[in-house]
Amino acid sequence: MANDFLHDPDSEYVRARNRSYMEVNGRRPGVFLRTFGCQQNEADSEKLAGIALSLGYEYTDSPEEAALIIYNTCAVREHAELKALSRTGEIKHIKAKKPDLIVCLCGCMAAQEHRLNDIKNRYPYVDFLFGTGTPEKLPNYLAEQMRSGRRAFYPDTEEKPEIKEGLPVRRESSFKAWVSIMYGCNNFCTYCVVPLVRGRERSRRREEILAEIRELAAEGCREITLLGQNVNSYGRGLYDDYGFAELLEDICRIEGNYWIRFMTSHPKDASRRLIDVIAAHSRDDSRPRIVRQFHLPLQSGSDRVLKLMNRRYDTEAYLSLIGYMREKIPDIALSTDIIVGFPTETEEDFAGTLAVLEKVRCDAFFSFIYSIRKGTPAADMEQIPESVKAERFGRLLAVQNRISLEKNLAYLGRTERVLVEGISKNDPAMLTGRNEKNRLVHFAGDHSLIGSFADVEITEADTYSLTGRLIGRA
Ligand code: 5AD
Ligand code: SF4
Repeated sequence: MANDFLHDPDSEYVRARNRSYMEVNGRRPGVFLRTFGCQQNEADSEKLAGIALSLGYEYTDSPEEAALIIYNTCAVREHAELKALSRTGEIKHIKAKKPDLIVCLCGCMAAQEHRLNDIKNRYPYVDFLFGTGTPEKLPNYLAEQMRSGRRAFYPDTEEKPEIKEGLPVRRESSFKAWVSIMYGCNNFCTYCVVPLVRGRERSRRREEILAEIRELAAEGCREITLLGQNVNSYGRGLYDDYGFAELLEDICRIEGNYWIRFMTSHPKDASRRLIDVIAAHSRDDSRPRIVRQFHLPLQSGSDRVLKLMNRRYDTEAYLSLIGYMREKIPDIALSTDIIVGFPTETEEDFAGTLAVLEKVRCDAFFSFIYSIRKGTPAADMEQIPESVKAERFGRLLAVQNRISLEKNLAYLGRTERVLVEGISKNDPAMLTGRNEKNRLVHFAGDHSLIGSFADVEITEADTYSLTGRLIGRA
């Protein structure tokens, strides 16, 4: 049985302890989970939450109420680590009041040896720590902690931990779902810590993915996002002639009123065949099955820097891929990631990045100032001054903001199909959602629309979002 591990002696032990807690306190012990970083981490946290619930915890939004606090951390840039550490510091006073509280750190930051030592020495109120590859061991770690009361540190030693299927999941949303199709990364871009903390690439079996999507579609899920560090290499090492394009085709056969997103792609692996499949399955304007939106990280527009980054494509190959996409899917929305201030980046290299951005004219950009990651090759390359990085970042932002605004203005007067996600954070009288192209759309409407598709006529546009008028349910 897939869930056997949830009935092993450790899980039973934790469950029994949690039953005792309930007898004493009149309610289940609470689990509080905070997630830092990317969608993959959010997906992992949904599994950790599912496991915790199956062990007798109840979900709580308040760390003060919790008997178990789990921080699922990120390590992609220093800023993410500092944020996780500073939030971890806040737990100190909660633990001081509640010595029985169990505090756990996991995820990418926790998977690094130097951080493990940091936490050991400087955060004594953290009870145990583990990495990214084995969420199914949470019951074992908890049981050990409850039995011994001793702090424990579980470094991920396996480079390719086996994928455990059938874990319980507590999804944050009833209408949007993450579906991991693969884990880890083999690419070793020289700036990136991900291969070091998430291990080597491994794909889930297609039957498992398709079964999960079938279930989600039958439950009325409206948006399914396929996740992987490099979804374009799905299936490698598992199948000879079945890859991401074939998986997408199979998914598109599953009935339901939903659209499919996926991320992240790698320009060296995004194939013409994949683009053909997207083109074939996104034709119907009113009901696109695969969204006409593609996130394709460029990272740099200088061939010299791309080589140093070990990206294994050049700007010409990138532009030719974009050209093919636009030929096959003329209105495809593109987004990209850019790193500013990679070691040795010159003014000329940076000008190359700006030039490619002007050529591609992406709908959205995510730009990052290069951050040194311990253990990666770029950490040992010649660094450039922070002030230069900051100045270039400012210039890049100005270019990207201008293009984003121009792209958004083009929506004026158009009617967009929007997946309504919730109430606007800035104005409770407004609803907010995203169109097929992943643009944020605000409009006034009834709360009953949340979780469904609506048609919205766009009446205003700014750099970051669109505002419109509800036409009706889509
Ligand atoms: N510094 C800055 N940005 C980074 N990214 C990955 N590693 C680093 C780093 N060390 C960015 C890349 C990647 C995105 C998720 O994060 O652009 O595509
Ligand atoms: Fe990091 Fe490169 Fe792998 Fe993406 S493809 S996770 S940037 S190593």
